[in-house]
Amino acid sequence: MSLLEVERLSKRFGGVVAVDDCSLSIPKGSIIGLIGPNGSGKTTVFNLITGFIPRDAGDMRFKSRSIAGLGPDRIYGLGIGRTFQLARIFPRLTALENMLVPVRRAGMGGLLARAQWGHEKTRAMAMLEFMDIGSVASMLGGALSYGQRKLLELAAVMMAEPELVLLDEPAGGVNPALLERIADHIRRLNAGGVTFLVVEHNMGFVMNLCTELVVLAQGRVIAGGKPEDVRANPVVLDAYLGA
Ligand SMILES: Nc1ncnc2c1ncn2[C@@H]1O[C@H](COP(=O)(O)OP(=O)(O)O)[C@@H](O)[C@H]1O
Ligand SMILES: [Mg+2]
Repeated sequence: MSLLEVERLSKRFGGVVAVDDCSLSIPKGSIIGLIGPNGSGKTTVFNLITGFIPRDAGDMRFKSRSIAGLGPDRIYGLGIGRTFQLARIFPRLTALENMLVPVRRAGMGGLLARAQWGHEKTRAMAMLEFMDIGSVASMLGGALSYGQRKLLELAAVMMAEPELVLLDEPAGGVNPALLERIADHIRRLNAGGVTFLVVEHNMGFVMNLCTELVVLAQGRVIAGGKPEDVRANPVVLDAYLGA
């Protein structure tokens, strides 16, 4: 079953066609890689799916229901989480407090009874430990290392128990040891039933992690399939060399 269907999606910014008639199908339980040269429209696809920017044309269906035209909060509430190319961590909140922000953003904050906050904190602590960063729970966001921020952002997204998570360059600027840890966390979450769409430049990371790849160039899908087939596809090589 397809969890997310993107159908003939288009978006232009002035004279730039950022996303051009793009269709994607994300099967439930998969880890799909969305790759392509810089400026090929990957982040824009994420912004369109999550309702951060309006589309010009096309449709998006999550669990067979159209989400086109919905805002980010609604889409988040339906079960689609995302991370950002630059991790969005609040520097003056502790790591644990950062974990509780998405809960509030989903509109539950004012309504949560004390007992429920206790429950949320317990969940947050368990998720930090799952990501192996339990020890930094009381540290301020601003004091965390780059890698810890990456892990914290992923942990925070998982607090809403999303069914689909869009990761924008989770391995960007990360050292090789941490890279492997991030891949492991994604695999473990996937084994627990979470579907992933991953934008990433690190080809080793993508080839290792993803069940299938979709290749964008100038906003268009130019290739797709198993990682080993995509890597051997001359059309893909051309797109990267041309960029
Ligand atoms: N908010 C925006 N305003 C104007 N142009 C944009 C905006 N966002 C993206 N673009 C342009 O759209 C194209 C695709 O960008 P982007 O989706 O960020 O690519 P990628 O994530 O693949 O590097 C680029 O040409 C970029 O300059
Ligand atoms: Mg991008």
